[in-house]
Amino acid sequence: MYDNVIAQKIAKQYNQQPLTDFASVKPETDIETLNLNWRESDLPEYKRTKHVHRLHPYLGKFIPQLVEIFLRKYKPTLVYDPFAGSGTTLVEANALGIDSVGTDISIFNVLLSRVKTADYNIPLLEREIHDILRRLDAYKSKFSKDQKVNKLFLTKSEYIQKWFAPNAQKELLCYSRLIKDYTYQDLLKVILSRSARSARLVTHYDLDFPKEPQTKPYQCYKHQRTCQPVEEAYKFLSRYTIDTLDRVKEFSKIKTKAKVIVNHADSREVELPMGIDMVFTSPPYIGLIDYHEQHKYAYELLGLKNNEKREIGPAKNGQSQQAKQDYIKGINDVFLHTRKFMTPKGLALIVVNDKYGLYKAEDAGFKEIGRVERHVNRRTGRRGGAFYESILIWQKI
Ligand SMILES: C[S@@+](CC[C@H](N)C(=O)[O-])C[C@H]1O[C@@H](n2cnc3c(N)ncnc32)[C@H](O)[C@@H]1O
Repeated sequence: MYDNVIAQKIAKQYNQQPLTDFASVKPETDIETLNLNWRESDLPEYKRTKHVHRLHPYLGKFIPQLVEIFLRKYKPTLVYDPFAGSGTTLVEANALGIDSVGTDISIFNVLLSRVKTADYNIPLLEREIHDILRRLDAYKSKFSKDQKVNKLFLTKSEYIQKWFAPNAQKELLCYSRLIKDYTYQDLLKVILSRSARSARLVTHYDLDFPKEPQTKPYQCYKHQRTCQPVEEAYKFLSRYTIDTLDRVKEFSKIKTKAKVIVNHADSREVELPMGIDMVFTSPPYIGLIDYHEQHKYAYELLGLKNNEKREIGPAKNGQSQQAKQDYIKGINDVFLHTRKFMTPKGLALIVVNDKYGLYKAEDAGFKEIGRVERHVNRRTGRRGGAFYESILIWQKI
């Protein structure tokens, strides 16, 4: 039903060119004219994952251009994302010189947002990320020969023992112990975590939801050949060191002095600054993703505190009637709380898939003043694999 209504609404836009000149969006742009049904060729992956947006994989983020369009349209002075996730809203706000605040319940996501939006002394950063790699390399040659060195990098974590080959374990644990010697510890933690994700004993075709470790050679659907389980982490640490540096440098060229605050808290009760004139966010989709679980390797390696009980709408709660009721209450509580810090008539733009009709502005202290719908994943010119999303435009009442 939801899909059909949207498909009809955007049918006319289908054969027209979607918006790609994002800087052309102005306050006077009519939202009814926005065509956001990008095909892969209109908005290729490298643009959607530009600069720091690809510092670390994260399931369930929205594309930065979506944020940019609405920030250009509404020109807020203080934008807030109560479900900040990997920090897309905050990065885009900063690039446009707009102050921003984000909140997330997962400490790993907060770390990622802070790393993306921090200021760096690039020459110092460059020295540090090469130095830690050089030191790891020096230790690496001693792993098999020196039992004393070997013992330094053992772990009690059953997860690490289960999901990493012995050599990869040592390399990751060694890198993680060295981090404390540097200024940019959080950034090094992100490189470590990204490398750990790639170095897990998983098949190349199931990086997101692996069930059991892959310890033997296997027929790989992604590469159409026999692939070997990963035995080391060093090659990923080395690759992501270079990639991270490039991305941070690229963003530093457009980074502005606008302020970014990232709270690690439950957005139903977090203390916020007054004067928020726009919220831009995508709440968790109900029953789809466990946001702590997706970065379990990072929680284990970095010893991060798990707050998953406070996640709204996690996959493990499913999509039952009870789960839906709890979800709606959770989302409404976030907006009822947030509106206390908003300017009169402040706006909340919420990116959702609303097939269950769960989002009711009035129950959260807002009224709906507009909606923009779009077809997601329009990889080809055809309509196959339809998945739609709505950008709800609410105003505080
Ligand atoms: C759909 S994701 C947001 C993704 C984000 N738009 C991005 O581009 O990265 C939803 C986020 O809500 C967070 N979350 C869930 N329950 C929360 C709560 N009670 N308070 C704050 N954040 C919460 C999750 O940890 C997750 O990062």
